[in-house]
Amino acid sequence: MTTPSEHNRCAVKTVVVPAAGMGTRFLPATKTVPKELLPVVDTPGIELIAEEAAQLGASRLAVITAPNKQEVLEHFKRFPHLEKTLESRGKDEQLAKVRRAAELIQAVAVEQPEPLGLGHAVGLAESVLDEEEDVVAVMLPDDLVLPTGAVEKMLEVRNELGGSVLCAFDVDEDEVVNYGVFEIEEVEYDGPHTVKRVRGMVEKPSKEAAPSTFVATGRYLLDRAIFDALRRITPGAGGELQLTDAIDLLIQEGHPVHIVVHEGKRHDLGNPGGYIPAVVDFGLAHPVYGPHLRQVLREILDEHGV
Ligand code: UTP
Repeated sequence: MTTPSEHNRCAVKTVVVPAAGMGTRFLPATKTVPKELLPVVDTPGIELIAEEAAQLGASRLAVITAPNKQEVLEHFKRFPHLEKTLESRGKDEQLAKVRRAAELIQAVAVEQPEPLGLGHAVGLAESVLDEEEDVVAVMLPDDLVLPTGAVEKMLEVRNELGGSVLCAFDVDEDEVVNYGVFEIEEVEYDGPHTVKRVRGMVEKPSKEAAPSTFVATGRYLLDRAIFDALRRITPGAGGELQLTDAIDLLIQEGHPVHIVVHEGKRHDLGNPGGYIPAVVDFGLAHPVYGPHLRQVLREILDEHGV
């Protein structure tokens, strides 16, 4: 492990995007369409993540894909025939939209032959890292954390305190049952963010058993030591190799792990209940579709007696 002073020189080069899950909560759509390609207004969730990764300054998106989900990587390729047609028809706006994903970042595929868990998926990304990369970010493509920039804050905290940094939301105590909940302690830190030290994690506890109201989100800044920990864990909840078990192992071995409490909102694109509000939110903010959507939503709410 490196010391905090050395961290000041390093930034994130690779963002790992696990996208090999089965998306069962989104069936029947996910029979043929990977959930990462479902559009938020007109842009697939994975392109929003690529944008966040590019904004962070990363140059490589390591997309963990399943053998039957090749389309996810296709989205980052060039489409010469389509581009030529749009160009010849003077459709510049559409042309820019087609080119955008490939221009944002270099996406590389890492195949996960079987969905053995998030921990297994992240572990596979080690094969694409350069030797000098001592930190990676993991962004779950079905979790939109807004406003973007959470990982930049986590990087600032790593620079200060070393180790690994996770993103947390402070939720109502009734909601803890749905999440991985952090067991925390106070830490000396006088920077601009709300930071706590993590002592452990409890997966989906009862309200009474929850050690705090700080819950995990889909943003992780992980020291390279995580890959060694991932090799040493055994299948946990659901028979899957869990990323949280590897983080827990690091904590037990004295590796510093902190959370930055995010001030903002999130959308869970992984199930219809979270996806629909995300589309409404992005739709209302859209300069073209927003005004009409506002009006139509009022009519729909009226119709439903809301
Ligand atoms: P989720 O549990 O949210 O995704 O995993 P899922 O398994 O696709 O969803 P359901 O429960 O069947 O509806 C979080 C992230 O980890 C990835 C998923 O693609 C998702 O982005 N993942 C999960 C993998 O890449 N590999 C796995 O083995 C498991």
